[in-house]
Amino acid sequence: MAAVSNSYIEVSRTSRSELRLSSKDQLYVKKIRNGTVIDHIEPGHALDVLHILGINGKAGEVVSAVMNVESKRYGRKDIVKIDDRELNPQEVDKIALIAPKATINIVREYEVTSKKRVQLPQTITGIIRCNNPSCVVNAGEPVTSEFKVEVLEPLRIRCHYCGRIMGKDDVVKQF
Ligand code: CTP
Ligand code: ZN
Repeated sequence: MAAVSNSYIEVSRTSRSELRLSSKDQLYVKKIRNGTVIDHIEPGHALDVLHILGINGKAGEVVSAVMNVESKRYGRKDIVKIDDRELNPQEVDKIALIAPKATINIVREYEVTSKKRVQLPQTITGIIRCNNPSCVVNAGEPVTSEFKVEVLEPLRIRCHYCGRIMGKDDVVKQF
């Protein structure tokens, strides 16, 4: 009983912004012990990120996704936390395509040991297919796809072989 009334007293003393950080609200962003936190994902794209990582919950992974929460920097954001998993560079490049402001935090024993903002290379090779059926990369030849990033946001990439322009929706569909 005492604990409850104490927490009420604390709430009544805090400002609106501090309220958001109260222990009750922190439940949905509970800290993880070991794993990866993908933060500052474009709002509404957390499920795309999980899809890219091949996570559908069936393998028993411990994962939390938070969508459309307030962000100090960007208005709204999504967050994905994956216990006991670190990402490979190809997975990070894929995430960069749909969440160019994302930060990848590696957590070990509750501490963030590495924080990196994703960075999309100017040329993307092999990760995405050209959606032009007549493109040489779709002709069954051993040609690796290659795209130049023309605009990061909203994403606009151009096929090196046929000039086809693709956007975020075209890319998300392939993952
Ligand atoms: N985090 C977590 N578990 C931990 C440590 C951190 O889930 N053991 C999460 C935090 O909730 C946050 C992200 O990892 O979403 C980055 O943590 P931190 O660097 O402490 O937060 P900020 O300083 O707010 O990060 P940034 O400056 O990138 O916004
Ligand atoms: Zn093409």
